[in-house]
Amino acid sequence: MRYVLGIDISTTATKAVLVDETGTVVGVGTSEYSYDSPQPGWTEQDPARWWKATVAAIRDVLAATGVRGDAIEAVGLTGQMHGLVILDDSRRVLRPAILWNDQRTEAECDQIRQRVGRDRLLEVAGNDALTGFTAPKMLWVRNHEPDVFRRVAHALLPKDYVRLRLTDELATDKAGAAGTLLFDVAARDWSGEVLDALDIPAGWLPPTHEGPDVTGYVTNGAAEASGLAAGTPVVAGGGDQAANAVGVGAVMPGVVALSLGTSGVVFGSTSAPTVAVDGWLHAFCHAVPGMWHLMGVMLSAAGSLRWYRDTLAPGISFSDLDLEASAAAPGADGVIFLPYLTGERTPHADPQATGAFVGMTVRHDRAHLTRAVLEGVAFGLRDNLDAMKAAGFDDVRQIRASGGGTASLVWRQILADVLGAEIVATSTTEGAAYGAAMLAAVGTGWFGDVPDACDRWITVGSVTAPGPDSAAYDGPYDRYRRLYPALRDWFRS
Ligand code: XUL
Repeated sequence: MRYVLGIDISTTATKAVLVDETGTVVGVGTSEYSYDSPQPGWTEQDPARWWKATVAAIRDVLAATGVRGDAIEAVGLTGQMHGLVILDDSRRVLRPAILWNDQRTEAECDQIRQRVGRDRLLEVAGNDALTGFTAPKMLWVRNHEPDVFRRVAHALLPKDYVRLRLTDELATDKAGAAGTLLFDVAARDWSGEVLDALDIPAGWLPPTHEGPDVTGYVTNGAAEASGLAAGTPVVAGGGDQAANAVGVGAVMPGVVALSLGTSGVVFGSTSAPTVAVDGWLHAFCHAVPGMWHLMGVMLSAAGSLRWYRDTLAPGISFSDLDLEASAAAPGADGVIFLPYLTGERTPHADPQATGAFVGMTVRHDRAHLTRAVLEGVAFGLRDNLDAMKAAGFDDVRQIRASGGGTASLVWRQILADVLGAEIVATSTTEGAAYGAAMLAAVGTGWFGDVPDACDRWITVGSVTAPGPDSAAYDGPYDRYRRLYPALRDWFRS
């Protein structure tokens, strides 16, 4: 039997997913870690942790399955996007990586808009300057840590630091590179114009590759550390959302990937670069060669439910909360939950936004609040899907869902009703890591292209169709939509 390995360097763990030539996941190795928050709104991680966790996760899956490293034909990488890793000219890490969910760069985002022009940024980089993206982090280091900045020779994304340790090559994928704000999304390469305007040397940035392209080979040292065979090819892979879309087969127009993890994402593939209306969504390159995508990212999705459970219903299981929520009627009898617990990214790029319960009376009990949380997250996702439709992606035939939140049947039904489309589970549950393994399988020649791999490996499972309650959500959704504009000034007061 031959195998491929997908490695996902996420914010909380590194996962190594071993897939055989029939597309079956034969084992998963995981090594967890946390992140540091040295100041409110800051998030950082030491890149050495990722490498340690990668080695542990690979060793773990090899030991558990008994598969030998030399049976693995290719490795694909995916991971958290937008983070900044900076290295000196000896390729030593200069400071802890600044992560995708770090909010310290509001002033730098303003600086970028001034230097490039907001409209031009949207035209070239496909996106407005947002605090989580990589370019504002580079400017922050220049503004606040000039001694460090002077020594920078290379800038990498988190998973590409692991690539460097595995292969000794500096490289990245086009989907990940598009999330830096330094990329010409239509041309699928670094933007000389944006780099010049921001005074960032092009030489800092690695060459970019399409998702299935081989970017290097496992070195002897990395082989000894991890148990992989020296010389195993490592493909570019993709940022976690693009790789997840591959892993659920969202590689054609009309099929949307929905991920309901800590954050909530709607992801639609396009065959031409599209700039979302007024930058309400992200417009990036796909991990599929020749494809792009639009993406809405809400920062607290299943994260809202976890917060709610831990804070207001401690000790209650998610399945009991589910039961409780089903006791309240659609619309939660007038209670609306605004899910901006960690600020928001799309369609309202606003780190100052906060969460709220609105419309409570003495008649309401916890069942209403629980239901309002599930509905509020679904409304946030619809807000993003509506922005996608407004940008021309109006043919939503199927939504392929993944992530912990989709285990809830009540939530799945609410999502189908609120989003007005079938919510479909797929045969693959390992999302981004599985997508990275598929890109490796394409890269090593098992398939002609990524859609072919999806056709052969991904099957559609249970389907939740919109039901008779759909119309009951129109009024509550309209009231939800009016809350952000009504509160925007208040968030800043
Ligand atoms: C995508 C995004 C997240 C991070 C962390 O734009 O910010 O998916 O990559 O998972």
